Amino acid sequence: MNNPNPLSVNLAGITLNSPIVLLSGCAGFAEELNAIDSFDFNKIGAICLKGTTLEARQGNPPPRLAETPSGMLNAIGLQNPGARTVAEEILPRIASLPTRLIANIAGSTITEYGEVARIFDNSPIDGIEINISCPNVKEGGAAFGADPCSAADVVAAVRQATRKPIITKLSPNVTNMNQIARAAIDAGSDALSAINTLMGMAVDIQQRRPILGNRQGGLSGPAIKPIALLKVWQLYQLTKPLAIPIIGQGGISCTNDAIEFFLAGANAIGIGTTLFRNPLIATQIHDELRQYLHNQRIPSVAALTGTLKLA
Ligand SMILES: Cc1cc2nc3c(=O)[nH]c(=O)nc-3n(C[C@H](O)[C@H](O)[C@H](O)COP(=O)(O)O)c2cc1C
Repeated sequence: MNNPNPLSVNLAGITLNSPIVLLSGCAGFAEELNAIDSFDFNKIGAICLKGTTLEARQGNPPPRLAETPSGMLNAIGLQNPGARTVAEEILPRIASLPTRLIANIAGSTITEYGEVARIFDNSPIDGIEINISCPNVKEGGAAFGADPCSAADVVAAVRQATRKPIITKLSPNVTNMNQIARAAIDAGSDALSAINTLMGMAVDIQQRRPILGNRQGGLSGPAIKPIALLKVWQLYQLTKPLAIPIIGQGGISCTNDAIEFFLAGANAIGIGTTLFRNPLIATQIHDELRQYLHNQRIPSVAALTGTLKLA
C-alpha cells in the first residue's frame, strides 16, 4: 500500500506532517511567519516557540548578535513575555495553524521549570521542549545541562508537572553529552533535541572589548554543522535501542544537510539560523526531501533514519 504521507513522522506520540521543525528563538511565536502570505505551515512539522520563563524577561544588554564566518553568535538572554502571557494571549492566536506547537521552557530554578511546564500543560501546546542550558542560580550559575544530576532533576520536575510529551534539548558544551542524555531519558524525557549552540566569543579590537553585551554567546549556523552531525550520530547509538526520537539540529541550511542528519539517526530535523537568511528555506527543504525519497525509492523519511552505512 502507498504511504499517504511519506514525510509524516511520529515524535514521541506527536504526529508531525513533516519532519521539518523550526527551532526555538528562530521563529519567534510564529506570528511573523504567519504574516507571510505564501508561508505554508502544512510543510512544517512543528514550531518550537521562543524560550519562555515564568516571568517576563527583558533579555541581555545589546549588542546581542555578532556575525561569524558561516555562523552567528547570539546572547539574547531569553527575552520573552512570560509563560502566562504566552499561554493566554499568544497561543490562542496561533493554535489553529496547521502545524504542531512545541513550547520551549527555561528557568533559573528547578521549581520554575515545573511551574512553567504546568502552565503549558493546561494549554493547546503539543509538546514541551526543555532548554537545560540555563544557569542554575542556586548552584553558582553552572548550567543545569552540564551535570547529569541537575539535568535529571529538571526533567523530573517537568515530568511531574505535565503529561504532554517532553523533549530535552541537549547542550554540546559538556564533556559527555550522552551521559546527560541518559540521565534525561531515565528521568522521563520522551525525546531529545541535539544540539543547542556552542559557547563562543567575539572581540572588537578597536575598543578592546567583547562585542556581545553579555560578553559570551551561543554559536549557531553552518559553522557548527559537522560538530552537530557527529553529536547526533553518537546520540543515536544511545537512543536507538531505547526508541527515543531525536530532533537533529545545528547548522542545517539545505536539503543535503538535512538528509545527512536523518542518515546519522535524526527522526526530525530543525532549521534555525538559516531562517534569518531565508524563511522559506524550511518549506523548500520539505519539498526537496520528498523528491529525494521518491528518487531513491525510499518509502518514508522514517525508513531513512539511522541508515548510514559504515562498511
Ligand atoms: C537568535 C537565537 C535565539 C535562540 N533562542 C533559543 C531559545 O530561546 N531556546 C533554545 O532552546 N534555543 C535557542 N536557540 C538555539 C536554536 O534553537 C538552535 O538549537 C541552535 O541555534 C542550533 O541550530 P541552528 O544552527 O540551525 O540555528 C536560539 C538560537 C538563535 C540563533
